[in-house]
This record gives sequence, C-alpha cells and structure tokens, in this order.
Amino acid sequence: MRTQSELLHAIEEAREQTDALFRVVRPDSFYERPIAERHRIVFYLGHVEAFDWNLIGRYALDRRPFHAEFDHLFAFGIDPPPGQLPSDRPSDWPSLAEVDRYNQRVRDEIDELIEEVPAQLLHVAVEHRLMHAETIAYILHQLDYQRKVAPALPPEVETAPAPQPRMVEIPAGTAQLGLEPTGLEHNAAFGWDNEFQALALDAPAFSMAKHKVTNGEYLEFVRAGAAPPFFWTERAGRWRYRGMFAEIPLPLDWPVYVTHSEAEAYAKWRGGALPTEAQFHRAASVAHEESAANLDFRRWEPVSVHANDKGAGSHPAAHANHDNAANPQSRARQQADASQRPLPNGHGSVESSLQAESPSQLIGNGWEWTSTVFAPFPGFTPFPFYRNYSEPFFDGQHYVLKGASPRTAARLARPSFRNWFRPSYPYIYATFRLVDL
Ligand SMILES: [Fe+2]
Repeated sequence: MRTQSELLHAIEEAREQTDALFRVVRPDSFYERPIAERHRIVFYLGHVEAFDWNLIGRYALDRRPFHAEFDHLFAFGIDPPPGQLPSDRPSDWPSLAEVDRYNQRVRDEIDELIEEVPAQLLHVAVEHRLMHAETIAYILHQLDYQRKVAPALPPEVETAPAPQPRMVEIPAGTAQLGLEPTGLEHNAAFGWDNEFQALALDAPAFSMAKHKVTNGEYLEFVRAGAAPPFFWTERAGRWRYRGMFAEIPLPLDWPVYVTHSEAEAYAKWRGGALPTEAQFHRAASVAHEESAANLDFRRWEPVSVHANDKGAGSHPAAHANHDNAANPQSRARQQADASQRPLPNGHGSVESSLQAESPSQLIGNGWEWTSTVFAPFPGFTPFPFYRNYSEPFFDGQHYVLKGASPRTAARLARPSFRNWFRPSYPYIYATFRLVDL
C-alpha cells in the first residue's frame, strides 16, 4: 500500500504547511478580514479541517457528526461577484479555543479512519489543503504587517535592471491538455474534475516571451498613464513593492503581479497578446526543465526573472532578492543577456532557439494568466463528492492561469493542473508573459 502510506505522509506535510501559516497570524488578529471579498481568517482555520471531516468522516465513511454546526459553518468559502461583499461580524464566529478543539478532534478522528479511505479522496483532502495554503498566504499578504509574525526580518532588496525582453520561437505541434482517466491504482493519475478528459490540440508555431513581464517593464506602462498594480505603493516619489512582511524598493527584475485586465491592457499597449491555455501547454512541452523553480513554499516572494536562465546556475537564491546588483557575475550575466538579439518573428533557427532559448520559469515564480476563459474539457464530469469545485466557475467570468507561484505546492505543479480567477481579482500571485499576435 505505497499509495496509502505516501498519502498519509502527504497529509501530515500539508497540515504542517497550514499550521505554519496560522503561526504567522498574531493571536489577536484571527477575526480580521484582510480581503473584503473573502472570509475572516478564523474561517480558514476551521475550514481546512471541516472540509476533511465532511469529505472523509461524513461523505466517505458515513460517521455521525460530533459538531454538526461547525461542519456547516466552516464548509464553504466564498467568491462574490464584484460589489457584493460579505457583512458578517467578528462576534458571528466562535472562539479560537472552540475552533482549536474542533480541529484537534477532526484530526484525531481522521487519523483513526484513514486506512479505510479511498485513495482518490485522500488526494482530494491533501490537494484541497495545499491549495488553501496558497489562498491563506495571499490573504495574509494583505494583513497589516504589525498583525503578523515574520519568520525572519527580510533584508532590503537591491534591484537589478529588468532584462531586455525577447521572444522565443515555439514550433508547431500538439498541445496536450488534460488527463486520461486511467484510475488511481498506479498512483500517478490523480487530477481534479476539470483536468479530465485529455484533449490534444494542434498548435501552429508562435513566438512567446522568454521571460515573464517584469516590474521594470510594467513601470514603463505606468509612466505612460496606466494605473499601478495592487502590490505597488508610492512613497516620496519612489515605487515600492508591498511584500509579505515588509515593503521594499520595487525589484525591477521580478515578475509583476497583476490582474488579468491589467495584463491584457499591457499586452495591447505593447502590440502583443496573452497566450492561450493551449499555447502555454505547447511552450511548456518544449521548455527546459528547471531544477530550482521558485515554488513549493521555499520563498514568500518572487525571484528575478533571470534566475533560471541557462547558465545562470541552479540556485535562484544566489540571484534573487538580496545580491543581484552587488554581484559582479550577475552584472556580467545581465550584459550578456542584453547583448543577445531578439529573435525576429517567424524566423531564425528553431533548433538553435530550442537549445539556447526556451521560455523560462513557466512553472514557478508566479501563476501566468492565459487568454482562455475557464471552461470544461469535453467529457467533463463533476466529482460527486465535490460538485462545486469547478462547475460554478464555468460562467464565462473566470480565466485560466497556469504554472505555479512561490506559494504553490510542488504537488500541484503538474502540467494538467488548472487555476482560475476573475479578471479583476488583484490579490493573487499572478504574472504573465506575451505572445506575438
Ligand atoms: Fe476550500
């Protein structure tokens, strides 16, 4: 039963991730609502456990509830349309002591029952919790700094110049989306309902930016009159980035976090477009694997868009945050990058571009917006135990994001995983890159 023991371990690791996040919140701040469209923090404290209990204890194993009121209170998150904000008050929620007691009981019960639980449902529990590890992180990002306990004081960032934008040619071929429904017995095929079924699309050749759009590039758009992104703030005439634990001078070589609407407006301004979901898959299928991708909770913030470039070494920390401008090798690399000429559209050798140049950081360092509206693949069937995971969002009001952010679990970074948000939702760790029209 390798699957079962691997999943038990995965549940423990995922619990440690969410526990660590709640340790960031000062005990007097659990009733804050850092994002107006989302629940108060205390909801998430109960939700990650109530979800497991509702799925495993109640749905899968038909156990009697021991606290039906909390099972219901903590069951569902919210995604209100613009302008319809929740209006509950802190006093509408139970005390932290009551929630902690409930949570401990849930874990004890589930740990007792776990051998009886079908593997698919354990996968769902693990991945649901890991997705919330990212949701909770971006919500806590908006919590006042004085209400958080920083793991360590982040050093000031030396910003490096943004790299010269350049395009990489992606040859025509098949974009392989989704997953074949092969069952879980091989421990390799778990996917959420919206990842099924497999879908192969023919993709004509196209040109895609090597790098995500940086803060430095976006700054030109802001100077031309665009509104600044939500993660930026201006102090004494200088732009700063609002990080998780501190504001820092705007790192010009980091990817910019923006909404879909902002990404689209920027693309139009530059005369480009956002990639489709199929183009992202096609590009990912020809991209080099990156061993030091910025994901899986290793960092709170992005690294330089250069960090994974070929020949740039394998430790993003060496190029990121703190020492870019001070590091002579880093300066030399930037000069080398700047001296490379952009590939002309539709020309140049595909082979040489594939050896020397493929899109960088498609996985990690920020989700990437696509131009694709979130919709089911042919053959979609909702999970009977979680009908509302995807289906309510097939409303034409959400766009697909691909890749992963610094706060995305490695487990979720499989090619078929799909993320989706409203086009004006500004809180997520969402970046983008351009393709030629
Ligand atoms: Fe949830």
